[in-house]
Amino acid sequence: MEKQQKDPVEMYCEWILNNGSPLGWIPFEKPIWQIEDVTSVLLHRQGQFQTQMFIVPPYIVIPEHTHPNVDSIEVYAGGEIYFSHSGELITTEENCTKEPEEKLGLSTQYGSTIRVRPRDPHGGYFGENGGVFLSVQYWLNDVKPHCVAADYIGKTMGPHHLESVKFGNAYFDGSLSKEDVMSKTTFN
Ligand SMILES: [Fe+2]
Repeated sequence: MEKQQKDPVEMYCEWILNNGSPLGWIPFEKPIWQIEDVTSVLLHRQGQFQTQMFIVPPYIVIPEHTHPNVDSIEVYAGGEIYFSHSGELITTEENCTKEPEEKLGLSTQYGSTIRVRPRDPHGGYFGENGGVFLSVQYWLNDVKPHCVAADYIGKTMGPHHLESVKFGNAYFDGSLSKEDVMSKTTFN
């Protein structure tokens, strides 16, 4: 079978990973967003394309959710992240470990990607080291890029996150646990 052409977010992700420097293209205006205890650094934005680096402290849970106006690719950078997708844990405590020192002590998941389309439920929890990942995004439906955590359907990380949601059907019920990353909720 002929290989299908790459779609816009795949081409953009390839570009950002091959051309980005640690500085990125961090803008003057609103370079950071804070969502609960999670920090996002805006590494690049051009038109409908945007890349956010998420910096997540230990033991944070991001419940299963969708982003209705965003086609995206999550890229594992460092630390201890257990991502879920479509109700399954993709990175687990078995397949996500520390490489030896000659490989700089990176995660075995360093650079791995997870495609997250607008209707794909996903989430994650973070181990004692916390974690860092990139969210490489292509915004749809003429919605101007803003923080991806504000385009959100599902349970939020807390009341502050809930207040920040601009579009979507979000709620917070006061509790959070690892089970929330695979709640298998039906998202509409
Ligand atoms: Fe997400």
